[in-house]
Amino acid sequence: DIIYLKDYLPPAFLIQTVNLEFDLSPHETRVRSTITFTRNQERNAGLPLELHGNELKLISVEIDGQPLSESQYQITAEQLIIPDVPDQFVLKTDVQIDPANNTSLEGLYRSNTMFCTQCEAEGFRKITYYPDRPDVMAAFTTTVIADKTEYPVLLSNGNPVKKGELDNNRHFVVWQDPFDKPAYLFALVAGDLQVVKDTFTTMSGREVALEIWVEPENITKCDHAMASLKAAMKWDEEVYGREYDLDIYMIVAVNDFNMGAMENKGLNIFNSSCVLARPDTATDGAFQRIEGVVAHEYFHNWSGNRVTCRDWFQLSLKEGFTVYRDQCFSADMNDEAVKRIEDVAMLRTAQFAEDAGPTAHPVRPDHFIEISNFYTLTIYEKGSEIVRMIANLLGPDLFRKGSDLYFERHDGQAVTVEDFIGAMADASGIDFSQFMRWYSQSGTPELTVSGHYDAAAQQYTLTIKQQTPVTKDQPEKLPLHIPVKVGLLNGAGADMPLTLSAGEASGAQGDHDRVLHLREAEQVFVFENIDEEPVPSLLRGFSAPVKLDFGYTQAQLLHLMRHDSDGFNRWDAGQRLAITALKAMVTQFEAGQIPKLDSALTEAYKGLFESGLNPAILAEMLMLPGEAYLAEQFDIVPVDAIHACRNIARKTLAETLNAELEQTVAANQLTGEYRPLAEDIAKRRLKNICQSYLMTLEADAVVERSWQQFSTADNMTDQHAALTALVHSKQDEKAKAALESFEQQWKDDALVMDQWFQVQASRPHPDALARVKALMEHPAFSLKNPNKVRSLISVYCNQNRVNFHSIDGLSYQFLADVVLELDGMNPQIASRLITPLTRWQKMDAKRQQLMQAELQRIAAADLSKDLFEVVQKALP
Ligand code: ARG
Ligand code: ZN
Repeated sequence: DIIYLKDYLPPAFLIQTVNLEFDLSPHETRVRSTITFTRNQERNAGLPLELHGNELKLISVEIDGQPLSESQYQITAEQLIIPDVPDQFVLKTDVQIDPANNTSLEGLYRSNTMFCTQCEAEGFRKITYYPDRPDVMAAFTTTVIADKTEYPVLLSNGNPVKKGELDNNRHFVVWQDPFDKPAYLFALVAGDLQVVKDTFTTMSGREVALEIWVEPENITKCDHAMASLKAAMKWDEEVYGREYDLDIYMIVAVNDFNMGAMENKGLNIFNSSCVLARPDTATDGAFQRIEGVVAHEYFHNWSGNRVTCRDWFQLSLKEGFTVYRDQCFSADMNDEAVKRIEDVAMLRTAQFAEDAGPTAHPVRPDHFIEISNFYTLTIYEKGSEIVRMIANLLGPDLFRKGSDLYFERHDGQAVTVEDFIGAMADASGIDFSQFMRWYSQSGTPELTVSGHYDAAAQQYTLTIKQQTPVTKDQPEKLPLHIPVKVGLLNGAGADMPLTLSAGEASGAQGDHDRVLHLREAEQVFVFENIDEEPVPSLLRGFSAPVKLDFGYTQAQLLHLMRHDSDGFNRWDAGQRLAITALKAMVTQFEAGQIPKLDSALTEAYKGLFESGLNPAILAEMLMLPGEAYLAEQFDIVPVDAIHACRNIARKTLAETLNAELEQTVAANQLTGEYRPLAEDIAKRRLKNICQSYLMTLEADAVVERSWQQFSTADNMTDQHAALTALVHSKQDEKAKAALESFEQQWKDDALVMDQWFQVQASRPHPDALARVKALMEHPAFSLKNPNKVRSLISVYCNQNRVNFHSIDGLSYQFLADVVLELDGMNPQIASRLITPLTRWQKMDAKRQQLMQAELQRIAAADLSKDLFEVVQKALP
């Protein structure tokens, strides 16, 4: 069944109050609900009551105290339908569910010994019969009953209002959430948990209790999440004027979780990987991810919960906005330019690939089969880029005015993208009619820019063409309104003052950068009083999510790399230079020659060490583009050549810049206690990047240094970097010894063992597939745990490209086998895991045929909705 946005109708019934009573038991949980319904005046009288429900065993149903007989209702696989109901009534249902056998991790399920829930998007219907759609909002009261010994802690949304003892060693807690909410924000947790407590005083002086609940062995891993939460609460008050609204804010860490985390009202549930950290167990990357995800879920309290989505087509309304908010928060807590570089690198690598593949969709899709398939990079990251463009078009003051207006106008409502844009338009007077196409048009726009300098007229003309290639889902594309931020560098590398005589732009005449407003398929922008031929710095800060082609010369890129005042573009010039050099090597490789790295790149990298760049930016600039982003630069991906040439380039750089690399390793050793602060993170990263270049040469002293770092590190960042360096080297014995020692040290820590799996899954040696298969038998591995599946199988299929695409097709077959097995347990994970198999369009004929054969084999099986939708789109 395909659901269409155009078919949206308001709900036939609205709800005043919901009372839920859970009597928890692993296989036989009872859920009794009491719901007050009223007919919605916006819809026809006489409509039947239709409630969602999946895998529920109905025990009884009554209306206004009268039990219904079987002839008075119908039950289908997905619904409970009661044809004849009054305009206002109280419905009581009693259902039984089996959380212990719920391997989909959606609805109420078990993780280790606890009960927990995940209801977004449509999981509440696996708990009880309900209108499970975000535009039905209600105040919930939830009673949780369970065995006192096994489940001493019973949590749900809102405030605890009553607790007590029952017979048979059972107890109960009643939770009341005063805010109306859709069912997807419902949560329940029960278990033998411990808590870390703190408080936050809001800007109006209210004290909020902060609680992080974890399994006992994780109690030492909560400090960083707590600090991040407090920082996020403060930031949202200062930057958006948003204050928290309940008296208590709880976070729970669970091991088995499909995604990163969930913003349930007052009771966030987190994948343990996105909340638990200690210096000896979590890398700097994990510390930063935790900071970002904790903030993301907290920010949802306004952008998502207080103002929610009318329907799931509007998902990016809350996700795009909230990602934009968490990106800005992380930028403020760390290094802004580095954060932008990381976010853009991910967007250009993974979201651009999604746009170019068979599951391409707009930021607001207009149809779907299974909404779980739309928690994508396009909805989240491209959605965030759209909000960023809006924020840049309005400037900070008007954007804040627009967001205030949005929250004020729509507090307590379930709304659409038009409502968000409407508030921004009303606050600023800007016309967003063409801009709205960013929400409805899929695909990555391509800009082709040319520059012409007229010395006599002292004019510089930029001609910009835009074109969006056709995507799998949409045959026609229209011109978008694209903000292109530009600067012009003179020969000394300084920004020239910009005076525009043709073309629309924002910013004042004479500014050193301006935002050009591109609206047509082709447009001309003319700059006056330009007294020498400039080098244009285009799309500064990545001002729009597009591809840009200028045909830069090597000299121009070197100039930008050295002088651009825009940190992002300075980095990007280096990336463009490296791509050109690596592409030339690929051509040599394919012609049977020995690829040689252009010495201009080596010289440019050498210059970086003398440029006085801070360690954070220097580290970013020393990184060659990854294999996945290089693959994006080709129509048909030369997967083996990319891998080989990138390795040769790394070795050449290591040989030529040996002294600089050694010197940088030595200069960036930290002594004091570990701190997850941007300054220290940058030094560790820079040191480890330089060491990994040096490791490509495998000189004894360098290998020994990795071994020493592995053995003596007091933090996981350094231990993990050294482990990776050894395991990915040709030092088989040292690799083996390091893996064994690491396993011995960390076998009881699930999150650290995830890293142990990842390091091996990404090992670029020909035995990788055999090793991955063997590791699936390891006692720490389980197909039922999404973190394990991601660490071992996703990492192998996405990050070990040269092995995944091995021409024998064995890895394709392996992935198809795993996906088929997983689909019966956890459809959401199965349909995500299959992604690399769906990207056959850019592979050579032989690989295309092998990949398609596996897709066809999957398609022939009996599939979940989730996997069916993806496979249908991906079949040739
Ligand atoms: N709203 C959550 C977040 O962005 C993600 C929920 C994921 N749910 C799902 N069914 N995939 O923080
Ligand atoms: Zn979110």
